[in-house]
Formats: sequence, C-alpha cells, structure tokens
Amino acid sequence: MTDRPTPATAVSPARTLASNRASLSQFPAVRLRRRRSSDWMRRLVQENHLQVSDLIWPIFVQEENGRTPVPSLPGVDRIGPDLWVEVASQAQALGIPAIALFPVVPAHRKTHACEEAWRADNLVCQAMRSIRAGVNGLGLIADVALDPYNATGQDGLLSESGEVLNDETLEALIKQSLAQADAGAHILAPSDMMDGRIAVIRAALDEAGHSSVALMSYAAKFASAFYGPFRDAVGSSGALLGDKKTYQLNPANVREAELEAQYDIEEGADMLIVKPGLPYLDILQRISATSPIPVYAYQVSGEYAMLKAAAAQGWLDEQATVSETLMAFKRAGADGIWSYAALDLARSMKG
Ligand code: PBG
Repeated sequence: MTDRPTPATAVSPARTLASNRASLSQFPAVRLRRRRSSDWMRRLVQENHLQVSDLIWPIFVQEENGRTPVPSLPGVDRIGPDLWVEVASQAQALGIPAIALFPVVPAHRKTHACEEAWRADNLVCQAMRSIRAGVNGLGLIADVALDPYNATGQDGLLSESGEVLNDETLEALIKQSLAQADAGAHILAPSDMMDGRIAVIRAALDEAGHSSVALMSYAAKFASAFYGPFRDAVGSSGALLGDKKTYQLNPANVREAELEAQYDIEEGADMLIVKPGLPYLDILQRISATSPIPVYAYQVSGEYAMLKAAAAQGWLDEQATVSETLMAFKRAGADGIWSYAALDLARSMKG
C-alpha cells in the first residue's frame, strides 16, 4: 500500500463495488462471521432449504415378485408386484410428493416396433394401476420414451438404415402416453428428446379426455455418460446400439438447451427437467432463472453411483454429500429434485 492518491481513471474493481454501494461498511465494523457463529444463527440466515416436498423418487419395477438389487446402483432394488403398494406407501407416509416408475422389460418383449410400450396391461401400466388403487395422495409419474421396449435400446423408432425417426416416433409416443394416462399416471415425463413431442402429446391427451394429466418435460436432456447404471437397471445397456447423440443435447451447448426449454414451454409443458444434475448446474441456473414454469433437477444414476461408491470405500460421508448436492440444486434454482436417494433422505429428515 502507498499513500499516493489513486488516479480517478484507475479505480480497482473492489473500489468500484464499494463505491456503488455507498453504505457498505468495512472491517472491523463488519464481520461476516457473526452470522455463522452458532447453529441457530446459521439457521436463521439460511437462504435455501431442502424439504421432503422437493423430492421425486424414481423406482424400477419388475415382473417377478420380490426385490432384485442393481449392482451398479447400490441401495436401489427393482421392485416386484407384491411390494409395489408397500414401497409406494412408504414414500407417501414420509411426505414424498411423487414417485416415477421405470419398467424392467424382459428381453423377449422388446421389438423394433416397440408395441409393448402401449399395451394396456404392460408392466408399468400394471404397477400404475395397483399403486393408484392401493395408495392415496401420492403423485405417479410415467416415463415417455421407447428405450425400455426397443430391441435396439434407442428412445425412438429406427429406419432401415438405423436412423432414429422423429415423426414416426411421435405417433408411438402418443400411443404410449395414452396407455399410461389410462392406467392412472398423474404426470407424464417425456424423456425421448424428439422434436415436437410436447405439443402432440398434449393435444392427444386433451382429445382423449386426459386434460388433467400434466406434462413434465425433460427439456434439457444431455447425451451424458452418467446414465450408465440406469441402463443396467432397466436392462437396456446390453441392447443399446450406438449412442443417443442425434436427439439428446451436446454436453457442450448452453444456448441450445435454453431453446429446448423455450419450445417445450410454448408447446404446453407444465414443468421442465434439466438432466443430468450436478454437472449441469449452469444450465439449471439459467433455465430456472427465466422459466415461467417449475424446473426440476434430475440427479441421475451415475451421480448417485459415484457418491455411493465413494461412501462404500469410506472416502465420503454419504448422507452429508447427498444433502449437499441436493442443496446445490436448490441454490441453482430447482423447484424440486429427482433422486434415487429420496427415500433415504426423507427418512433422515424425518428422524
Ligand atoms: C430413458 C431414460 C434414461 C434416463 C431416464 N429416462 C436413460 C437414457 O436416456 O438413456 C436416465 C436416468 C438416470 O441415469 O438416472 N429415456
């Protein structure tokens, strides 16, 4: 520090900030640590809060009774028909507002035309009906995309040359959406990333008398390597031919993600999803800052698996890191969070 007067033209950034806020006092009068000095004080000044009502719990449903663990998703089981109502009731009793169902479709039901996706009595429709009949006050979300039913593991129908067809896929997604709405889904979550899907699904639902079924669109879904354990869980990893880069977003793009969100809003989406979560907090922040409708973060399977794996080694504190990452979503502007840890977290919040 020198005594020389600073020339008016050479104002430091720090000086600019201070002079823009004329009344900002300085140390030692100001001590920001005062507001961190005790637990009650920290709670009093806390800016964001994570609540059970923020959580959406994705579960995998299987045809066989009982539970089957998913090795790459420790703590996550595929759930059989004898346990559907029990498991859904646990979530409801803890105050989780909604669960999302993903079917584990046996290989012999997977075809190139994906007809199983709209069979009225398919696995996910059965699970939906039985949970609707057995549990009150719990939102049910169904995924709209063809990958669990597709012999190729792709989210859309393929041409002879292996190209994922947009408009033909829309017809299939409409049929799948109607079957799931008929089975009692409250919210449909299109995760397929075809162009124009929100508009055509909305129109078809309304025409069929399902105007109360909401659409939570995976607006910004990136072609991510973090979906691996999910594909193991639903049994599509082995089946997947190629990648999903012709429809899911390029992880390098921001503007394009904002555009996807804008179109889905215009097409009639009720809510949006940004996915994956933690590696895409910038996208979440930008979309939630301007979206007129609620925006949800999806902490995907690979994010969950990383935390679980490190915790199993004793390298990270599982509960603390899970809570911290979910708080990061709230801080970035999420109205809610999809997480495989939702049930455990809801339990620890209750306890
Ligand atoms: C399928 C779908 C995927 C996920 C949700 N719906 C996988 C994919 O696009 O390949 C990923 C969820 C996760 O990784 O937790 N349309």
